[in-house]
Amino acid sequence: MNVLVTGGAGFIGSNFIRYSMENHPAYRIINYDKLTYAGNLENLAGIEKNPQYVFEKGDICDKHNVLRCLKEYRIDMLVHFAAESHVDRSILGSAEFVQTNFVGTSILLDAAKEIGVNRFLQVSTDEVYGSLGDSGSFTEATPLHPNSPYSATKASADMLALAYQHTFGLPVILTRCSNNYGPYQFPEKLIPLMIVNAMHDKPLPVYGDGMNVRDWLHVLDHCSAIDAVLHGGTIGEVYNIGGNHEKPNLEIVRLILKNLNKPESLITYVKDRPGHDRRYAIDSGKIQRELGWQPSYSFERGISETIKWYVNNQSWWTRIISGKYQEYYNVMYGGREVVK
Ligand code: NAD
Ligand code: DAU
Repeated sequence: MNVLVTGGAGFIGSNFIRYSMENHPAYRIINYDKLTYAGNLENLAGIEKNPQYVFEKGDICDKHNVLRCLKEYRIDMLVHFAAESHVDRSILGSAEFVQTNFVGTSILLDAAKEIGVNRFLQVSTDEVYGSLGDSGSFTEATPLHPNSPYSATKASADMLALAYQHTFGLPVILTRCSNNYGPYQFPEKLIPLMIVNAMHDKPLPVYGDGMNVRDWLHVLDHCSAIDAVLHGGTIGEVYNIGGNHEKPNLEIVRLILKNLNKPESLITYVKDRPGHDRRYAIDSGKIQRELGWQPSYSFERGISETIKWYVNNQSWWTRIISGKYQEYYNVMYGGREVVK
């Protein structure tokens, strides 16, 4: 079985490649990644020489290269992670998001249709459903209501993928997952950013009142869910994936500080993210009932292992934060208004 993983040098993609290599030793995994600021081959250190694994540097927007790869490696299944994934960056500018998340997905769909794959798994997000009030959760039937440029491009790509299934019979399946955390997450996202800043005794920038709620899922539980859908999911269906660990941001930030033995005075309330979604919560009943998937990590175990991982892998993130990322950090937080 030849599996093309797009975006395999990113956070979830690299965890998924490790997971798949362990669980499917007969599979050949082709990692197709452009290596943007978020792509890092160090995430896959140790597996480069494994004959089961091939790295192809390439852009999903490059039609000829995508098609060449699909043909050359006789791809059976395609798991599509590659994306611009950070909401704040999409607010600074949406062009890259439209290009990679929408145009890139359309190019992959065309190429997959041309060679005739057995599965096209589109990895999507709960953010396509928009924002919730104080109660309720997203089901697969919740209407799409994306609020950020990022989620708008992901929702558009989802619709295109489902249209290819309906119109051409391409074997597309979609997953929509809540917030992931765990090793190798780029330190622009809430949990690794707060860990890294706390370790440097830098301010922890909490947006708005800190009471926005996210549902946290350990990345390895996301990997096992994708694996279950890839092998057992029904073509044309959508599967929501969540951790059932809803937490306000402030609770997470306080937990990180406590764990690292740092003072709460590091918490700095900054101007809110424009259009900030208030609450996400996922109903994962369908994947649990139909495919028997369950998350295996408690939040307490997952967060404490994750904090330890960042403490023990400082060279990994030091290289990132001392590079080009610093420019983004200065733009994002340098002049950001402190509100309390
Ligand atoms: P990430 O930003 O860590 O990694 C993205 C990867 O895609 C990088 O390796 C990057 O180099 C690659 N890439 C970007 N543009 C590319 C292009 N044009 N061609 C080829 N490769 C390209 O992202 P992540 O957090 O691992 O997210 C992976 C996927 O999962 C995304 O589709 C995202 O929307 C989705 N998702 C993420 C979360 C989360 O909490 N992180 C939750 C639900 C869904
Ligand atoms: O829900 C799934 C989505 O989760 C994925 O589709 C996205 O790719 C992923 O980036 C993530 O999006 P969020 O915007 O929810 O994640 P982020 O880590 O950026 O922010 C989490 C919450 O923390 C959100 O309410 C904003 C807040 N936040 C974030 C940062 C970076 C802060 O308060 N301060 C910060 O500095």
